[in-house]
Amino acid sequence: APLDRPDRTNPDLRVDGARLWASLTDMARIGATARGGSCRLALSDEDRQGRDLFVGWCRAAGCSVTVDGLGNIFARRPGRENHRPPVLIGSHLDTQPTGGRFDGVFGVLAGLEVIRTLNDLDLTTDRPLEVAVWTNEEGARFAPSMLGSGVFAGVHEADWALARTDADGVSVAEALRQTGYAGDAPVGGRPLHAVFEAHIEQGPILEAEGLVIGAVTGAQAQRWYDVTLTGVESHAGTTPMERRRDALLGAARLIDLAERTARAHGPDGRITVGVVAVHPGTRNVVPGRVFLTLDVRHPDDAEIDAIERALRDGLKGICAGIGLKGAMTPLSADAAVTFDPALVDSVRRAAAGAGYRARDMVSGAGHDACHLATFAPTAMIFVPCVDGLSHNEAEDARPEWLEAGATVLLRAVLDAARL
Ligand code: GLV
Ligand code: MN
Ligand code: MN
Ligand code: MN
Repeated sequence: APLDRPDRTNPDLRVDGARLWASLTDMARIGATARGGSCRLALSDEDRQGRDLFVGWCRAAGCSVTVDGLGNIFARRPGRENHRPPVLIGSHLDTQPTGGRFDGVFGVLAGLEVIRTLNDLDLTTDRPLEVAVWTNEEGARFAPSMLGSGVFAGVHEADWALARTDADGVSVAEALRQTGYAGDAPVGGRPLHAVFEAHIEQGPILEAEGLVIGAVTGAQAQRWYDVTLTGVESHAGTTPMERRRDALLGAARLIDLAERTARAHGPDGRITVGVVAVHPGTRNVVPGRVFLTLDVRHPDDAEIDAIERALRDGLKGICAGIGLKGAMTPLSADAAVTFDPALVDSVRRAAAGAGYRARDMVSGAGHDACHLATFAPTAMIFVPCVDGLSHNEAEDARPEWLEAGATVLLRAVLDAARL
């Protein structure tokens, strides 16, 4: 029966946690890894299957589905006033190669669960609702991360994004055609009334404090760089140590410098070298060329500027010392984000209304919501994950935490969808 107070002041208003869990479990079968994780690289065949499953569920829930030129999917539930900009709930279905079952997926399926719950309640909102799946959030197959939402938000050019290639030279445009998700809707260029993203925290704070809800006030700045060090390939047995121009030695010194630089900008500085490719990569040749990636994060834009300078100066010194050529090319630079204070407050009140203790927190991870926040009022809801572990096949979350997050999402969405 419909609740007589279908809003966040009604303590009984909640989603169906068992249904949400069942959908998460069904989705996790696609691209399941031997160690219990998920591998659905962006626009792979597994990603296509996951998208197809989601689209089928949305149609069954009465939504109309559109796909834009970047493959972003929008499942729409009409409201009473459909000319009004929608309230949008979104996240991603793609994963890291050794990803977990919840990163991204939870935010998408929590959105679907909101829609299913409203259907159960036979409740029509004033504004239309949309659940979005953003293309290539992870950046694991195509760099940079948060690509589909970045184009939607006007942070990246569509043509530039479509031309990004994976390690085999396959472009985003080709992969969209291969998966059948090269849609015809224009990318972005339309207003959104409010945006919500629910996500696992991917860090240890909520679990350590025994809380189930984080009201996310913002996210830290993040920059990605490609680095190439070029020396001279030479014979391992005959080239004296003092004559070597070993690109991998330069890389080792740079990795060490990165760790020290992050600590010098502590406790919040983070620098990660996640990819190292050594050329020619054979035992008895001094490496002539190394490619590596830098992922740099800090909550303060000025600090991240200083970190970049330290890395650039350091790279110059390292190269001069060994006789290498070094290039450090920026790939993306996302400024620190502050989410919409009114929406963040709505999340806090939604948590209180449902009886959950919450705390404010800043996201250490990047999210599609960070791009959307540049042009629409945006907020995020975090729930704990076990041991704070994410970007790992062992990533885990308790069903009751996910139910709590989706319930807070439902209440905050209802609040925003009201005229
Ligand atoms: C992507 O998931 C990121 O936050 O790096
Ligand atoms: Mn994510
Ligand atoms: Mn991720
Ligand atoms: Mn992320």
